[in-house]
Amino acid sequence: MDMDSLVALCKRRGFLFQSSEIYGGLQGFWDYGPLGVELKRNVREAWWRDMVTSHNELETAAGAPSAFEMTGLDCSIIMHPQVWKCSGHYDLFHDYMVDCRESKKRYRHDQVCGRWLTCKGQRIFVASDAPGNEGLELTQHKAMKFFNLRGKDLDSLTWEGPLVSLTTVSDFSQVLGPDAKTLGTLTPPREFNLMFKTIVGALGGEDDVVFLRPETAQGIFVNFKNVCDSTRVRIPFGIAQIGKSFRNEITPRNFTFRSREFEQMEIEFFCHPNTSPDWYRYWRDRRYAWYVNLGLAGERLRLRDHDKDELSHYSCGTADIEYAFPFLGPGEFGELEGVAHRGNFDLRSHMEGKLVHKGDDLVVESDAEGKPRHKGSGRDLSYFDDLTKERFVPHVIEPSAGADRATLAFLCEAYNEDEAPDENGKPTKRVFLKFHPRLAPIKAAIFPLVKKDGMPEIAREIYKTLKPHMTAFYDEKGAVGRRYRRQDEVGTPFCITVDSQTLQDGTVTIRDRDTLDQWRVSKDQCLAELQSRLQK
Ligand code: GAP
Repeated sequence: MDMDSLVALCKRRGFLFQSSEIYGGLQGFWDYGPLGVELKRNVREAWWRDMVTSHNELETAAGAPSAFEMTGLDCSIIMHPQVWKCSGHYDLFHDYMVDCRESKKRYRHDQVCGRWLTCKGQRIFVASDAPGNEGLELTQHKAMKFFNLRGKDLDSLTWEGPLVSLTTVSDFSQVLGPDAKTLGTLTPPREFNLMFKTIVGALGGEDDVVFLRPETAQGIFVNFKNVCDSTRVRIPFGIAQIGKSFRNEITPRNFTFRSREFEQMEIEFFCHPNTSPDWYRYWRDRRYAWYVNLGLAGERLRLRDHDKDELSHYSCGTADIEYAFPFLGPGEFGELEGVAHRGNFDLRSHMEGKLVHKGDDLVVESDAEGKPRHKGSGRDLSYFDDLTKERFVPHVIEPSAGADRATLAFLCEAYNEDEAPDENGKPTKRVFLKFHPRLAPIKAAIFPLVKKDGMPEIAREIYKTLKPHMTAFYDEKGAVGRRYRRQDEVGTPFCITVDSQTLQDGTVTIRDRDTLDQWRVSKDQCLAELQSRLQK
């Protein structure tokens, strides 16, 4: 599948639009159109239902170390600035950027790659901001131009191995930037905090600076005690939250994959330190299975355990659930969700202050005068188990997913092309989105074969019966074959057609989007038939 076809379909059929498009757009921001909003709502609702509302805390779920409770939260986007100081985001949530003095473009240091080569006695690093095969082609093209070569002179370029990251290069004087014509135009890497700043209140001094949250997780940690005190939850339990997060990404790219405003679906699962490794494995496998059950199966989805040196400063185990998005190079995967064992880092940080590693321990970071660099709340966030009479700071397992990335992966996976007979019986190319029925924006479309003989009236009755139970679409315009194609293209699993036989025996045809099978049911059975098939 090529990404351009999907992007074009998303715009043409109202899944996704560039934000503020009539003003030229704003990089890193996206709007979900009439069908996109239904799709993303279905992703969020599937997550919330499967993780929170349908969870049965009275039984031990398959693979879980014990029974557990799940509850939800909806926190504010702007929180006290100390939250981000203690969490580490204020000091550490940054990327490195490099600027090009010639092209005036800005790049994320670790996203620029390139190849060393020698030609005409000169050794240079030709850089590109595209990975994979595209990067190889671009670097070759740039090198030919730089050395003023023609196609037949290709052999005079001596390449040193594959594309490598710009982070491996220390001397930028021999680097040909991704959009530059001369050498040495890239600035040394500079740190750039990804949190968006804003001001609270009318006067707006430095003391009134606040941040748009870069993750929903911290809102859960700072409410841990509120939830414990206001409900009867007992450890082990999880708090789930879905909400917007904001990151001032240096190079937003790849459609919605890396946006500056996006939505997260996060769970913070609180458990006893002794059982936390078992809970980590449970959540890692359960979250992977969630994507599989909704259709992301096969070799495009993988679960990857982080190596020890990849782990965050607080984590003793992390796995990524990754998808082979079509815009990535061969063999490359992009992160859909991270499942992290965070120990007691977060709750302790909000009690004591920002923590740092000292040997194997976590200690409060101190300033030059020996005081905490960022002071915690001082509130006791430990948990007292009244059955075992034990007090402890719970360990946390965090499955952290992106609603937009999941939606994009479901769109990519759903995109299919095949051949099917058109209205004249001639085999023609068909584009269809093979969504899992739970995710499909429209569940059923209802057509009268022709706009006469009482067919529209029957079709409208069926539409009225379905509408309170599912998203349905009524269409009486144009050839029926074309109406089928339009529904296939937006992933509607079932089309119901009222035809001349309906007038005789009261049956209608139902057509399956994927198999193109058609069968007849009584017009009064449409709702029951669809409900049973949509639940499969
Ligand atoms: N609380 C942990 C946390 O936020 P993360 O790996 O930075 O971890 C979790 O983000 C998920 O949020 C990612 O796996 C991804 O799905 C989504 N995400 C992160 N940055 C994103 C961005 N710029 N655009 C879209 N989704 C993003």
